[in-house]
Amino acid sequence: MAYFLGLDVSTTGSKALLIDQKGEVIATASSAHTLSSPKPLWSEQDPGEWWQAVIKSIQTVIAQTEISPAEIEAVGLTGQMHGLVLMDENGQVLRPAILWNDQRCQAQCDEIHSRIGKERFIQISGNVALTGFTAPKILWVAENEPEVYARARHVLLPKDYIRYKLTGEFAMDKADGSGTVLFDIKTRDWSDEILASLDIPREWMPPTFEGPEITGLVSAEAAALTGLAQATPVMAGGGDQAAGAVGVGAVEPGIIGLTVGTSGVIFATTPSALVEPQGRLHAFCHAVPGLWHFMGVMLSAAGSLQWYRDSLAPEASFDQLLQEAEAVPAGSEGLLFLPYLSGERTPYPDPFARGAFIGLTLRHTRAHMTRAILEGVAFGLKDSFTLIRNAGLEQINQVRASGGGTKGALWCQILADVLESELVSVNTTEGAAFGAALLAGVGKGAWPDVVTACHESIHITGKTTPNPENFEVYQQAYQVYRELYPLLKNTFTKLDY
Ligand code: XUL
Repeated sequence: MAYFLGLDVSTTGSKALLIDQKGEVIATASSAHTLSSPKPLWSEQDPGEWWQAVIKSIQTVIAQTEISPAEIEAVGLTGQMHGLVLMDENGQVLRPAILWNDQRCQAQCDEIHSRIGKERFIQISGNVALTGFTAPKILWVAENEPEVYARARHVLLPKDYIRYKLTGEFAMDKADGSGTVLFDIKTRDWSDEILASLDIPREWMPPTFEGPEITGLVSAEAAALTGLAQATPVMAGGGDQAAGAVGVGAVEPGIIGLTVGTSGVIFATTPSALVEPQGRLHAFCHAVPGLWHFMGVMLSAAGSLQWYRDSLAPEASFDQLLQEAEAVPAGSEGLLFLPYLSGERTPYPDPFARGAFIGLTLRHTRAHMTRAILEGVAFGLKDSFTLIRNAGLEQINQVRASGGGTKGALWCQILADVLESELVSVNTTEGAAFGAALLAGVGKGAWPDVVTACHESIHITGKTTPNPENFEVYQQAYQVYRELYPLLKNTFTKLDY
């Protein structure tokens, strides 16, 4: 039997997950990371802590099984996207990593657009510059920490720092590479034009690889620390969204991935480098060779429900709140919720957007407010769905739902009714780490390609059929929801006191 290891360097912790050559999960282990916010808007982590967490997780996974390390035939990497790891000529980390959820660099985003031209930038990279992405973080360091910038020689992303520690190689996958927005989305590699316009030396950027390609071998030193066999191949893998899509089988145009975790994501594979003309959707390379994807990201999806429960109903369980909400009719009797509690990315890239309940009356109860939150999140996801359709992906055959928010029947039903689309669940729940392990297996020849690997290891386990009786009320409510952000946008910016 051959085994493959997926490693996921997420914001909250590092996970190691072992699968066999049939795609069965054999063992998993996680170890937590700390997050630091030394100033308002900042979000940083120490890459050394990721490495210690990875070592511990790999050791734990190996200890849980009877498998000899030599039977682990390949490692696949995934992790939080966009985080900036800057290193000097000796491979030493120069400052804490600046993460995907750091919001310090709006001025640098504006500068990128003015240096290159917003339209041209969208044309090349497929995206607008957002505070979450890597390119503006590099400019921030150049402007604010010139002594650090002067010593920089290598730019890596979080999981690629782990690759460096495992293999000694500087390398990156194309999915995560495109999330730096320093990529030419069409050629699937670094854009000389963008790098030159931003004065970022081309030599700082590592070679890039397709998801299942080999990027290096586990070194003697890393083998001694982790327990992996020396010379185990390490495959490119992909950023967490692309690898997570592989993990649920969203690897073909027409199969949409829908995730309701703290954030909410709509992920759509595209057969070519399609771009939303105004950059309202993220457009990145997929971890599947030769494919791309659109992505709509809502920053507070299940995070909205979590905030609501923690602040307004701490004594209630989620099950209790959802049970109450089930008794309220679709449309929450005219109550709407805007889910922009952490600002928003799609369809409004606006760090100043705010959450709101609109339409409260004496008739409304806690149950209405709960239901309005579930519906508001579904409307926000419908925005991404609509943008994806309008950007050229009209054929949507199936929506694969995952994440904590889709565990209960009510939210799934609301999503199916608002999106007017059947929702299915799948047998795999390990997300990006599972996808990374599949990519490693494909690289080693366990499956001929990623689509076959997904077909053979991922199966539909449940279905939610939309109820046409609710379509009309949701269409009506969605129209009003669509009017609210444009009306409130300027008001939100005045709430800064
Ligand atoms: C994707 C994104 C997040 C991070 C966090 O664009 O910012 O999914 O990758 O894990």
